[in-house]
Amino acid sequence: MSARADRATAHAADLDEARDERYANPFAPPDETEAAAEARPRSLFGEILDWMLAPLLLLWPMSLAVTYLVAKSIANGPFDRALETDAYVLARQIHPVNGVAELTLPDSTRDFLRADNVDSVFYQVLGTRGELVGGERDMPLPHEEDRPQPGLVEFRDDVLRGNDIRVAYTTVEFPQTPGAQPVLVQVAETLDKRSQLANDIIKGVILPQFVILPLAILLVWFGLSRGLAPLHALQAHIRARRPDDLSPLEARRAPPEIEPLVTSFNDLLTRLEQNMELQKRFIADAAHQMKTPLAGLRTQAELALRQDASAEVHRSLEQIATSSEHAARLVTQLLALARAENRMSGQIFTPVEVTEVARSAVRDWVQAALAKQMDLGYEAPDEPVEVNGNPVMLREMLSNLIDNAIRYTPPGGRITVRVRHDAAARLVHLEVEDTGLGIPVAERSRVIERFYRILGREGDGSGLGLAIVREIATMHGGELTIDDNVYQTSPRLAGTLVRVSLHVHERAGTYPNAT
Ligand SMILES: Nc1ncnc2c1ncn2[C@@H]1O[C@H](COP(=O)(O)OP(=O)(O)OP(=O)(O)O)[C@@H](O)[C@H]1O
Ligand SMILES: [Mg+2]
Repeated sequence: MSARADRATAHAADLDEARDERYANPFAPPDETEAAAEARPRSLFGEILDWMLAPLLLLWPMSLAVTYLVAKSIANGPFDRALETDAYVLARQIHPVNGVAELTLPDSTRDFLRADNVDSVFYQVLGTRGELVGGERDMPLPHEEDRPQPGLVEFRDDVLRGNDIRVAYTTVEFPQTPGAQPVLVQVAETLDKRSQLANDIIKGVILPQFVILPLAILLVWFGLSRGLAPLHALQAHIRARRPDDLSPLEARRAPPEIEPLVTSFNDLLTRLEQNMELQKRFIADAAHQMKTPLAGLRTQAELALRQDASAEVHRSLEQIATSSEHAARLVTQLLALARAENRMSGQIFTPVEVTEVARSAVRDWVQAALAKQMDLGYEAPDEPVEVNGNPVMLREMLSNLIDNAIRYTPPGGRITVRVRHDAAARLVHLEVEDTGLGIPVAERSRVIERFYRILGREGDGSGLGLAIVREIATMHGGELTIDDNVYQTSPRLAGTLVRVSLHVHERAGTYPNAT
């Protein structure tokens, strides 16, 4: 066997294993591997929130650093001015004595040069030849080229005995002797007061931010939820639609950002509807084409039954006749369903007297009811009630309901077809009730699905009757409800009441109040 074939076999074995695993646990989620989970896009809400909050949280420490620097330079200002004054005052106390600089400190000057309760203060006066005239011996010196002009005060940061200090320094012009340089006066203080002030400023700025930041996050959260609300509304709108509602969504009501999405969704719906329309037409055409051969088959079987034939042939012919009758009924049901579903084909709606339609539908079924020894009754208001609709369809609808009532009620039962006019709600209720087997509550939503029949019930229907009823009711803007027969007196049988509620068609002038 070649290496390639080997690999192919190994791959097939892997696939088999994976399949076996899935069959072993039919409730395992479908192939949601970690990679697939990672590839799933994140929620829009989380994504936007992240992209807004991450920069905000990054910018925050940066703004703190900038605030700290600004606070420090602000804090330096007033203390530098005070130090500058000290330097001037000290410079004024230098006098020439025999050509040598001498410092005489009155008590008042000595006072302010003394350390306060926060910072230590230092000073130094160096004479024309660099000799110490007064103050600290070990004060650091400024660079030669940085010495200011006499009368001007400069500042610098420096270190004295391991402590950070701020130094204000100036020079004093002295009667010139060759080789002499101006007298250097330096006043310095440690930085505690400045740090304290800078810290106070920082605290004043940062503390409120601990309240403001969570508030900002909360507001962003709230704003995002509000901003994404139209998406939720759209989702709710789509979910609330009936499964067979393929009408386009209103793109105009969507925000501009999701309008393209809605438009493409609508395009998809249109294509889907066209496809379904084609399919329905195909079913209708096929059903129509089958009608004639089925009718022929049945006629031929009935003709053949009249001839002399053996008992077996006779039985087969009877079987053919019933089967073709059932097939013909199925085809008729399919055609009715296709017609009812095809709402686009422009069914002609006219004002219809439902009382009359119901009466004639009942008349159609009297014979069938009598054959099963049933009491088929009809109740209607005295005055005619009209709806806007298609009489053929409405009659088809009632026929299906009466057919069900007769089929699923044991012989001797009672069936009532009732037209009730609810003038206040402007509705007319078409009710068919029986004393039959009833439809269990759990089955009520399912029996209106196509081809659904209750398991274990006798009968040879195909499960299309109530689907047709629902479609016809919907095309008339009406509603189908399945209930217990409330008028039923026998507790043993539930009995069924199927009701179709339609809007009454009110002719102008029918009501005295109408304008
Ligand atoms: N009046 C009723 N009483 C009891 N069960 C009913 C009644 N009407 C309908 N059903 C139940 O609901 C199921 C679906 O009814 P539906 O009319 O849709 O189909 P069907 O009668 O079986 O077939 P079809 O009407 O296409 O010949 C039936 O199989 C039956 O079990
Ligand atoms: Mg039926």
